[in-house]
Amino acid sequence: MKITVIGAGAVGATTADNLVRRNIAEEIVLLDIKEGVAEGKAQDIMQTSALLGFNSKIVGVTNDYLSTAGSAVAVITSGIPRKPGMTREELIGTNAGIVKTVVENLIKYSPEIIILVVSNPMDTMTYLALKVSGLPKNRIIGMGGALDSARFKYQIAEKLNASANDLNAIVIGGHGDTTMIPLIKHATWNSVPVHQFLTEEEEADIVKKTMVGGATLTALIGTSAWYAPGAAAAAMAESIVHDQNRLFTASVFLDGEFDESDINIGVPVIINKNGWEKIVPLHLSEEEKQAFSKSADAVRAMNKVLKDSEII
Ligand code: NAI
Ligand code: 2OP
Repeated sequence: MKITVIGAGAVGATTADNLVRRNIAEEIVLLDIKEGVAEGKAQDIMQTSALLGFNSKIVGVTNDYLSTAGSAVAVITSGIPRKPGMTREELIGTNAGIVKTVVENLIKYSPEIIILVVSNPMDTMTYLALKVSGLPKNRIIGMGGALDSARFKYQIAEKLNASANDLNAIVIGGHGDTTMIPLIKHATWNSVPVHQFLTEEEEADIVKKTMVGGATLTALIGTSAWYAPGAAAAAMAESIVHDQNRLFTASVFLDGEFDESDINIGVPVIINKNGWEKIVPLHLSEEEKQAFSKSADAVRAMNKVLKDSEII
């Protein structure tokens, strides 16, 4: 089983590192356009093998798609990241060109591939990947909700002084500071609603901090985060290659579900060897439904840029 990671930058290298450490696939191909970067990072990660005890192999290549042939999964992280003060949406022009070329190259050598899109603005890049690839909709998945939900659990855990592992909480909607919807009223602490332990103010604070989770880290670090994004992408890839049927929120193509169509946006899905297998329905309140519809409008406006600039 082979997994390809496109982009050997912060998120790509971290994804590859997570994949090999956990022996998720026999071979990981790490590809970057910058001469030597993927080769160097692959060697560095391989040199941890004797210390960490994994047996997977990682190969770094410079723009060589032949090496990616026969991949079951690809994680696309190529593109520019956010700088402080930048929104994910401002990355669209540069990243759309990169993602389009990458997708075309990937499917040339791996027609059966399942693609996980990480590059931002992620919902729009996932929609673009679906349109340019012509692949069945279940084989194109955007990673955003898995990360945002992990950040949401972190914020709840901090407030409750609980273990994040005991929490069930998801974020739906677009992967953007103003478009994501942390479903605080649905969150539980091992089946007990967190609502029982938190005031309205505390809940509002958790939601606010979750929504600006990425921007907070970008301001602190000077570029966007990579540890949790890499862990989220690797967990989703693992659910595909090991057919785990895990439930993640992910950006998938909606065709009437959640009252939306012709859009990729974050909803709960089951992820297994077929890609995303099915969308899990949620009982949303009127307020949550309205927030989802507003979020979809914002993502749709971003997708319009692709059409207006004739990228699709
Ligand atoms: P980075 O700058 O560290 O790495 C990007 C890499 O892509 C660079 O090594 C660059 O040489 C490479 N690249 C550029 N064009 C390429 C091409 N045509 N083919 C192959 N490689 C190419 O950036 P970082 O921090 O890894 O972020 C990557 C992307 O992921 C950004 O768009 C960022 O906004 C996004 N991101 C998305 C998250 C999500 O939750 N969906 C979370 C974190 C980052
Ligand atoms: C993040 O959420 C910027 O999408 C990136 O960290």
